[in-house]
Amino acid sequence: MGRLDDRVAIVTGAGRGIGRAIALRLAADGAKVVVNDVDAEPAHETADLVKNAGGEVSVSLANTVDLAAAKEMVQATVDTFGKLDIVVNNAGITRDKMFHSMDDAMFDLVIDVNLKTAFHTTLAAMPYLREVAKAEIKANGRAAYNRKITMTSSVAALTGNPGQFNYTAAKGGIIAATKTLARELGPFSINVNAVAPGFVETRLTAPKEGGGELGIPEQMRQLAISMISLGHSAQPEDIANVHAFLVSSDSDFISGVTIPVTGGQLGGMG
Ligand SMILES: NC(=O)c1ccc[n+]([C@@H]2O[C@H](COP(=O)([O-])OP(=O)(O)OC[C@H]3O[C@@H](n4cnc5c(N)ncnc54)[C@H](O)[C@@H]3O)[C@@H](O)[C@H]2O)c1
Repeated sequence: MGRLDDRVAIVTGAGRGIGRAIALRLAADGAKVVVNDVDAEPAHETADLVKNAGGEVSVSLANTVDLAAAKEMVQATVDTFGKLDIVVNNAGITRDKMFHSMDDAMFDLVIDVNLKTAFHTTLAAMPYLREVAKAEIKANGRAAYNRKITMTSSVAALTGNPGQFNYTAAKGGIIAATKTLARELGPFSINVNAVAPGFVETRLTAPKEGGGELGIPEQMRQLAISMISLGHSAQPEDIANVHAFLVSSDSDFISGVTIPVTGGQLGGMG
């Protein structure tokens, strides 16, 4: 028995990095998983990894910056797997620039991908999370089980981070929205929590070579790693483990919190 047997989960941004690790971990725990990513090739790679490990999976290439796309993704999930229990809002992107050089396009893209996808995906899921729980409560006095929403925020939203006005605004928004949603959805036995990773080895933190849009200069990478009490950066699985806990019944009495997963970040809040 896996602790997510019979559960159905959507994981956004699951083609790479942390989202891929979350999809694999939730499937290993027994969930049927929808791998959502705007990039087709990595999304299908993740799905193949899930399948090869014996899991049940489908792929969604929806860009949920668009609400109609989010609704289609959720409908396809329910058509394929019969229901939806878990939403992991993990999609994210960076476009770093010092504040005085930041323009509208960089601000809007980062807010859209980190915050609006979470808004739309969660909104589209309401008929299958909130409404289904409401009907169960009406019929039986309680929801059949706790349904779960998690978000990937960032410790940068807790500490601030030079060059990330757009990103920290979005990730701070995620933390605040998590608290509000937890209060609204608690009466329906829906837990809403966030994970705030520190420095995780993915393409967002890979050494930046030349003019790439993602990544971090090597000197900054080393500085960030030197601030970690445990002495090394995280792997995506370190973050996936915490999402897996938060979407399982092991955390049924935790809601509205943001858990820093930083290895003990010196001088920060994690
Ligand atoms: N890597 C870190 O150190 C770190 C630290 C804190 C928070 N985070 C957060 O973790 C999450 C995952 O980041 P990662 O490091 O794995 O990055 P990543 O770039 O490896 O993976 C992110 C995935 O999201 C996808 N994506 C982009 N826009 C999308 C959209 N509109 N809809 C669906 N998918 C979309 C990308 O194609 C990519 O596959 C992000 O929210 C990120 O902000 C990462």
